[in-house]
Amino acid sequence: MWCPASEKFLHGCVTACVSCVRRRFSIQPELRLNLPRRYLGQPSPFTHPHLLKPGDVTPGLTQGEYALRRHKLMSLIQKESQGLGGGTEQAVIFLSNATLYMTNDIPFPFHQNNDFLYLCGFREPDSILLLQSRPGQPLPAHTATLYVPRRDASRELWDGARSGADGAVALTGVDEAFTTEEFRHALPRLQDEGVTLWYDGAKPPHPSLHSGFLQPLTESRVRGKNRVRPVRNLVQHLRLVKSQAEQELMKTAGRISSQAFIQTMRSSISPVDEAFIYAKFDFECRARGADILAYPPVVAGGNRSNTLHYVKNNQIVRPGELVLMDGGCEASGYVSDITRTWPVSGRFSSAQEELYQAVLDVQKSCLSLCFLGTSLENIYSHMLTQIARKLKDLRIVQRGCSDSQLFKAARTYCPHHVGHYLGMDVHDTPDVSRSLPLQPGMVITIEPGIYIPEDDTAAPEKFRGLGIRVEDDVVITEESPIILSADCPKEIDELQQICGQGP
Ligand code: GLY
Ligand code: MN
Ligand code: MN
Repeated sequence: MWCPASEKFLHGCVTACVSCVRRRFSIQPELRLNLPRRYLGQPSPFTHPHLLKPGDVTPGLTQGEYALRRHKLMSLIQKESQGLGGGTEQAVIFLSNATLYMTNDIPFPFHQNNDFLYLCGFREPDSILLLQSRPGQPLPAHTATLYVPRRDASRELWDGARSGADGAVALTGVDEAFTTEEFRHALPRLQDEGVTLWYDGAKPPHPSLHSGFLQPLTESRVRGKNRVRPVRNLVQHLRLVKSQAEQELMKTAGRISSQAFIQTMRSSISPVDEAFIYAKFDFECRARGADILAYPPVVAGGNRSNTLHYVKNNQIVRPGELVLMDGGCEASGYVSDITRTWPVSGRFSSAQEELYQAVLDVQKSCLSLCFLGTSLENIYSHMLTQIARKLKDLRIVQRGCSDSQLFKAARTYCPHHVGHYLGMDVHDTPDVSRSLPLQPGMVITIEPGIYIPEDDTAAPEKFRGLGIRVEDDVVITEESPIILSADCPKEIDELQQICGQGP
């Protein structure tokens, strides 16, 4: 760390403040790096200069950014630990994900636990991150240690290169790294009553690391006085507000997905298989630099759009039908989440147009509320009011019905929330309340819909079998919100023009 007292970079300086961390890492980071000149377990500035700049740990995110995140977490822990009693030293543990297998010996592409990734940028399985306060020094001074898979030529033959301890330190900028087995040497210290342990044992991302190392540790804690404190919620509060660099990555994800939507709309000429639409969207995202789709997309033609999590995507969308597609890519660890509904024959029928315009009006009205101080819950209430009005205007509910009947109908015809937080995960930071006032740097979705199943005999016949949603991704700022999915068309004229063009 940069030490303001001696004005030197000291390994493990105890007085580091946020600006010290920033200063340390913004100074010619490539001079500090001694990256192994070989493949690591993930792209590095040496092997993938087209993706990472010197000093980047993952594309677009520097060692300084990751150090700042750890520093902020330790500051939050400092606040939380005041007045709680327990040990005077703090130790924080995060596990990586484990490799999942599709079938015997054949792994799925590895995807990291995002809390772990957020704090160190390391993308290998079977790893542990340990943050420890410095004995006798005030928080947030700390060390960061990674425990990573050891180099093993026989495994690397099958699974590809591993970073090893030297590669992990050089790439991520943590203080030290050891092999995962060597975590056992850290256990005696972590068992000490003088250390407060911060770790989430519920739903551990890596069951065998949990049962091998952490479960015995936490059980001995439960029996003792010094209990284990939860840390996931603190990380979620950090992840909730995106830095400038994160916002740039989310802009890229939004742009890639929007362009992929346009190409997919263009080539979905009826009759068209939902599987073709899915494959086309996947291709267009990856061809533009996305790593993977952020979630299994919904490609729902006709009445299937009324199944909110329809992911079978195996039916034919017939001439005259709408298709609802909810899809988004993940690029450099950040995701987008967009829904559009369009006519596969190139033109909306008049009933489709009426219902589509109603949903679009509600969506724009909700977008106009995306300012500081309001909350997702407030916008949700607004959405229900607006949907209720539209249901009345379209005579989907009786004109004379009471307010409470109207409200109930709005919830029936739109059974989901107006949106959620977005970031590294599609349903990002899910434990953070949606009543929290919006702050600059938060990213949310706005996704109202109206769904009228074909067997809803109470609704006018012309609307039955239509399910429509429009979803955009929004960054909250001090001024006007930034719509990350703004390049993805949603006006009726635009959609008809694109869908009528052909591939
Ligand atoms: N794609 C999932 C959602 O919109 O919540
Ligand atoms: Mn969403
Ligand atoms: Mn969605």
